[in-house]
Formats: sequence, structure tokens, C-alpha cells
Amino acid sequence: MTTDDTAGGLPPIDDELAGRLSAARQVAALTGAGVSAASGIPTFRGPGGHWRGRDPMTLATPQGFAADPKLVWDWYAWRRELIDAASPNPAHQALAALEERLGPERFTLITQNVDGLHRRAGSSHILELHGAITRAKCAVECGRRWDWTLPLDEIPPRCECGNLARPAVVWFGEMLDMDVIHQAQQAAATADLLLVAGTSAVVEPAASLPLVTRHAGGLVIEVNPEETPLSALVDLRVAGPADELLPELIEMVGTAVG
Ligand code: OAD
Repeated sequence: MTTDDTAGGLPPIDDELAGRLSAARQVAALTGAGVSAASGIPTFRGPGGHWRGRDPMTLATPQGFAADPKLVWDWYAWRRELIDAASPNPAHQALAALEERLGPERFTLITQNVDGLHRRAGSSHILELHGAITRAKCAVECGRRWDWTLPLDEIPPRCECGNLARPAVVWFGEMLDMDVIHQAQQAAATADLLLVAGTSAVVEPAASLPLVTRHAGGLVIEVNPEETPLSALVDLRVAGPADELLPELIEMVGTAVG
């Protein structure tokens, strides 16, 4: 592992590593809330994060929703307002530019974020592990799904079938979409480079994807101002904000491949 002791830039990258970065043919990225921090969207576990002073069990579980759907929808409507007012930052833009350079068949963006900022930055090959905040679905699974916008006519909103609606996101204790997680595992297993940015790497199954890449012989690089459980296992740790350092790093990726 290489650690960045030189604040304010990329850590030293030797010729061998630089060669592997530029020769990378199949690339994946795994992002979390920290990638949207510079867009003004709070993370979950950091200072000022959602889970500081709020209980995830009341806001992000089926049980919490059943107990107080209005509380949950008020929180999602507040988050949605922040997200609608936010813009993609240089980290989102650099990942979109990388997809454009490599082509969507050689680049997969796996995100735990529900904020849609990667799509708004121009990325198209995205696996949204935890769903999208812009989507709602019937809470009793009549099968309807739709886009919702602010302001909501009533909180909590209802499905056309008369039952309550809920955000179409994955909550704690719920299964991820099997197809999406399968595609993410495939992308991690076939990547010769996985960029991990802005995640505390504590929520499964996302947290294990970097290990899938490592196990398959791919390179894993972490971009995060803080250490995570993953930090000791990666090939390179870039200690700093993704909005500043990811663009610099991405400039070195895939440049040797026609
Ligand atoms: P967390 O809030 O757990 O972690 C955010 C990470 O971003 C931390 O490791 C920070 O150090 C890092 N960070 C902060 N600012 C950064 C910056 N400018 N650049 C890069 N990194 C920065 O968020 P996630 O790992 O995304 O799930 O959380 C995973 C899941 O847990 C979320 O999807 C959500 C949450 O509970 C559900 O709600 C189901």
C-alpha cells in the first residue's frame, strides 16, 4: 500500500503503477456519499452526516416507514430539495469524462448514491445499487413505479391503487436488485482497475466489491480524506477530496489503450 503523506496532491505514483493505470482496459468505479459532498449534499456518517443526530432505523428501514411514513417522506422531500438544487462537481464530471474516453462497454460506474448526480454529469453506464431518490413505488408492491417531483400534493403520497407510496430506494434490511448486484460483481471481477471514491466502505454488499477486484488480480485505488476499513487493502490510497484528486488521477487512466 502507498499512503499519501503529501497533502494537496496525488501521492507518488511509480512507473509501474503509472503503466498499469494507462494500460487499464476494463475500468470500474465504486462511489459513495463523499463524492457528492462538494456538491453540498451531506454524507451519512461524517461530521454533519445524516446519521449524526438521526436514527437510520426510523428513516431508512421498512419498519421505520411503517411506524411513521410522514416522517420518512418529510426527510426524503428535504433531501430531494437539496439534491435538486445541487450540481455535479468535478468528481462526477471526471467519471463521466472517463466513460466518454473509454466507452460504456469498458467503464462501469457502481454507486451507492441515490442522488442522480452521476447521470446529471453525463455518465450513462451506471449501476445504482441503492436505487434513485427521484423514483417512488407502491409500498404494498402493486407493481407501480413512477418519477416524483416536489412539491408533493400530500405527505405521505399515495399510489394510484390507493395504498401508500414509498421512495424506490433500498433500505436497511432489504434486498438489493439481484440483477444490479450481479452486474456490479461482474464489473468488479473483470476490472483491471477499480476506483473507490467517497465511501466509508462499511455497508454491504458494496463494501466487498473492491475485494472481488483484488481477488481477481485487478488494481484498487481509494480516494477518501479519511481512512476506511478498505484502506489497508488497496494498492494505492489517495488521501484527499475526490472533487480535487479524482480528476487528476483519472487523467492517467486508459490513455494507452486505443
Ligand atoms: P458514508 O457517509 O458512510 O461515508 C462517506 C465517506 O465519504 C466517508 O468515508 C468520508 O470520509 C468520505 N468523504 C467525505 N468527503 C469526501 C470528499 N470530498 N471526497 C471523497 N470522500 C469524501 O457514505 P457511504 O459510504 O456512501 O445507505 O454510505 C453507504 C450507505 O450507507 C449509503 O448508501 C446509505 C448509508 O446508510 C442507505 O441509506 C441504505
